[in-house]
Amino acid sequence: MLTCLAVQHPNTYVLGIDLEPLRRRPSTAPPNWEFRIMDANDEWDFEDKFDFIHIRMFGDVPVKERLVQKVWDNLHPGGWVEFTEWIVDIQSPNGSLDGTAFQKWSIHLREGLQRLGSSVFFPLQYKPVLEQAGFVQIEERKHASPNNACYPGKRLQRIGTLMAKMWLDVLEPISVPVFGALGWTPSQLSALLKEVYKEVGDTKYHSYMTLRMQGPAYDQAAANERSGEGAAGP
Ligand SMILES: C[S@@+](CC[C@H](N)C(=O)[O-])C[C@H]1O[C@@H](n2cnc3c(N)ncnc32)[C@H](O)[C@@H]1O
Repeated sequence: MLTCLAVQHPNTYVLGIDLEPLRRRPSTAPPNWEFRIMDANDEWDFEDKFDFIHIRMFGDVPVKERLVQKVWDNLHPGGWVEFTEWIVDIQSPNGSLDGTAFQKWSIHLREGLQRLGSSVFFPLQYKPVLEQAGFVQIEERKHASPNNACYPGKRLQRIGTLMAKMWLDVLEPISVPVFGALGWTPSQLSALLKEVYKEVGDTKYHSYMTLRMQGPAYDQAAANERSGEGAAGP
């Protein structure tokens, strides 16, 4: 995504950050592209402010006000922010997931996150925090995303295939701390995951989860301050 953005907008400086190095670094990075290893919870001491900050699949942070304040402080007046996060609540309206290991995993994930003081519904908490910080024009979008290629149509099939692959990559890293908090032993967890791995890509199981987008949200107050009273929104 980072590289695509830099290529599509050659006159825009595009900076990505993560705690970890990139798994797939582009062999030839465009000149307007930069990636830094950085802890987003540390102070943000960028050389300049940004017009747009996109936070994607960062996961729950205990103090959202602090993160949103950092975003506010690092946006140019009139800048935009967008959050994209999963609500990891597996829905299966036709009941095909009933009694499966994937459903069991989803229920225990919810319990474990609660035990850790978090919730699968944390993306819903951003809107009031953004409003309180002064952002306006906050748009919320929900997208149902299939967990495998079970639903008809080219687009849903493509998304479903990617999602099934994604699940195989993330199930273990997501589960270890959360199931650990519930007192599961590593062997209990790996026995459950073994079953979940078998089910995830099997299209006889129909299910989806929700991708929640908050934003873009517009920093109107700062825009007014910059251009005198009564500045119009975009
Ligand atoms: C689900 S991945 C999403 C990666 C990427 N943002 C994307 O959308 O493809 C979550 C990422 O958050 C990163 N992360 C977790 N805590 C972080 C922190 N405090 N500062 C920066 N990155 C962090 C992890 O290293 C991991 O790469």
